Amino acid sequence: MTVHFIGAGPGAPDLITVRGRDLVASCSICLYAGSLVNAEILKHCPPGARIVDTAPMSLDEIAAEFEKAQAAGLDVARLHSGDLSVWSALGEQIRRLEALGIPYTVTPGVPAFAAASAALRRELTLPEVAQSVVLTRTSGRASAMPEGETLETFAASGATLAIHLSIHALDRVVRDLTPHYGPDCPVAIVYRASWPEERIIRGRLSTIADAVAAQPIERTALILVGPVLASEDFRESALYDPDYQRRFRSRGTS
Ligand SMILES: C[S@@+](CC[C@H](N)C(=O)[O-])C[C@H]1O[C@@H](n2cnc3c(N)ncnc32)[C@H](O)[C@@H]1O
Repeated sequence: MTVHFIGAGPGAPDLITVRGRDLVASCSICLYAGSLVNAEILKHCPPGARIVDTAPMSLDEIAAEFEKAQAAGLDVARLHSGDLSVWSALGEQIRRLEALGIPYTVTPGVPAFAAASAALRRELTLPEVAQSVVLTRTSGRASAMPEGETLETFAASGATLAIHLSIHALDRVVRDLTPHYGPDCPVAIVYRASWPEERIIRGRLSTIADAVAAQPIERTALILVGPVLASEDFRESALYDPDYQRRFRSRGTS
């Protein structure tokens, strides 16, 4: 018996990996985080599977489901939105599984920031403009930010920011970032990237709050900030430069 943690992707049901889909199809129990996982994915569960939405459940109740499955000798598919490496509650669940001696695997998924970047049809790193992407959030009721992980700290680097779980705090985001990026810095808000109701709102730090007020967004949106979002005259990458190819690819490397 094994619990398979699976990144379900950002929303579109065909953005789960082939491995994730096959694991869902092989497990007779499926626990899924119903607030963000697309229910269409549950069509891959085998007939008669026990399917449980964990959105209203506590960690103790979820752990009890793992124990019941272990007692019955049944594999579990555990679906979380996006990828499991960020804001998935994977850490606390695997700690329980290790204490219970239950084996588990982890299958990655397409994270929301990648889906948002695809929706914008933009690269988040560009030569000499930004070479880092910071995946972050602002503090919420459930989790305070560790000291030192402030928006101002990340903003001081000039990197591209992908700010999660913060659409309700847009005014604070604008206030904290404007001194570092300037009022003209481009911002894009992507609501429910890859879902049928996906929406994109573009603006500048000085205009984005009004733009969002005109077409309100609640939850499940990413705030992307940084000069890459509007850069057109950036240097081409060295990768496809003929000189680079001659010097570093002469021995048939790819
Ligand atoms: C609990 S976190 C989950 C992140 C997820 N594990 C990932 O890999 O992207 C939820 C937040 O991720 C962002 N998010 C998740 N899915 C999204 C989507 N389809 N479009 C835009 N933002 C999304 C929103 O900021 C949302 O508040």
